[in-house]
Amino acid sequence: MQSRNIEIAPSLLSADFSKLGEQIEAVERGGASILHFDVMDGHFVPNITIGLPVLKSLAKTTQLPIDAHLMITEPGRYATQFVDAGAKMVSVHVEADPHLHRTLMSIKSAGAQAGVVLNPATPVSAVEEALLFADYVLVMSVNPGFGGQKFIKESVAKVRRLRQLIQDQQLAVRIEIDGGIDRSNIETVVEAGAEIIVAGSAIFGAADTENAVKELRNATIQWV
Ligand code: DX5
Ligand code: ZN
Repeated sequence: MQSRNIEIAPSLLSADFSKLGEQIEAVERGGASILHFDVMDGHFVPNITIGLPVLKSLAKTTQLPIDAHLMITEPGRYATQFVDAGAKMVSVHVEADPHLHRTLMSIKSAGAQAGVVLNPATPVSAVEEALLFADYVLVMSVNPGFGGQKFIKESVAKVRRLRQLIQDQQLAVRIEIDGGIDRSNIETVVEAGAEIIVAGSAIFGAADTENAVKELRNATIQWV
């Protein structure tokens, strides 16, 4: 089987915000390689979370790259500020940005990887052109806004279609998946073509955070 770089990206949204430093150390020990940082503005999604000052503090305390998932309207206004605050990956929703090319290029120019995100009902074709300018595509497997939701199973076929599109064009774009991922479905989404696996409640809702990351990693070991 072809070796691939499968990475586990714990979503801090489900962490205990009063113990963020400790929780990050636990996922580091478990073998996480990316920290997923969910930014919500109460407009694009019906929830408000954390933003630039928190990211700035965390970037100083961890070696792991921070992946900022911007669930905000007008992401182009803020994207490079997240890079300046320390994010190594920044993704914006195709549904939120009519100027995707400009925003993706600005993220790259600022020195981070640029990602484009698809909501569950947004077709893969909506990012066909953006694949030429993005480093990764994030497929939402729940409707964005909250942790702990049920995985939308049709996302598996969507990842497959996206993988095919990327292969057909011989691009190096990676696929990230986010929402409802746990031990029961991680192998299926990796088999379909996802390489960056976000998990929130499956990690921070578990009794042993470090071990929860290890278990997810072990489930994908055959692809590594
Ligand atoms: C949802 C967020 C996700 C969420 C994942 O809007 O983008 O990153 O925190 O959490 P789980 O893994 O619990 O679905
Ligand atoms: Zn997310």
